[in-house]
Amino acid sequence: MAEIANKSSVDFAQIKQITESYDCKKANLIAILQRIQESYRYLPEDALAYVAELIGISPASVYGVATFYSQFSLDPKGKYEIRVCDGTACHVRGSMPVLSAIKKKTGLQEGKITSENGLFTVETVSCLGACGLAPVVVINEKVYPQMTADAILIVLDTLMKEEAE
Ligand code: FES
Repeated sequence: MAEIANKSSVDFAQIKQITESYDCKKANLIAILQRIQESYRYLPEDALAYVAELIGISPASVYGVATFYSQFSLDPKGKYEIRVCDGTACHVRGSMPVLSAIKKKTGLQEGKITSENGLFTVETVSCLGACGLAPVVVINEKVYPQMTADAILIVLDTLMKEEAE
């Protein structure tokens, strides 16, 4: 695997260890992918191919599972995962101006979900189950209630300052 390892930042020994800890069984594929995503914050393509090899199934089968479940991401995620709720309650209370402010502040390019500096991933999600706090933004696991464009800019400023220190 040394040749492949040189072309990728994937730690193949670690992928092997994770897969073997689940007995290289296809029935444990979701758990294996969850563990890999915990390590990388996404599922690198090379890791998926290696898992397929270890389990003895086609790469397409692994890819199929990885793309079927919304919990998995095939794109690298930023250090801060920002989820803007765009469920009905949040939408009518102004989640879209909040989203626009986030995209502008993080310099997110059209069609991208992760900022160029790799710090921020921005996504919309449907109802987070906290409609009474609408509009809601979640950054990593922290919930920010009743957000406005101005309020989220203050939050982002704080995060950016922490990163600059
Ligand atoms: S619609 Fe946003 S929390 Fe329910």
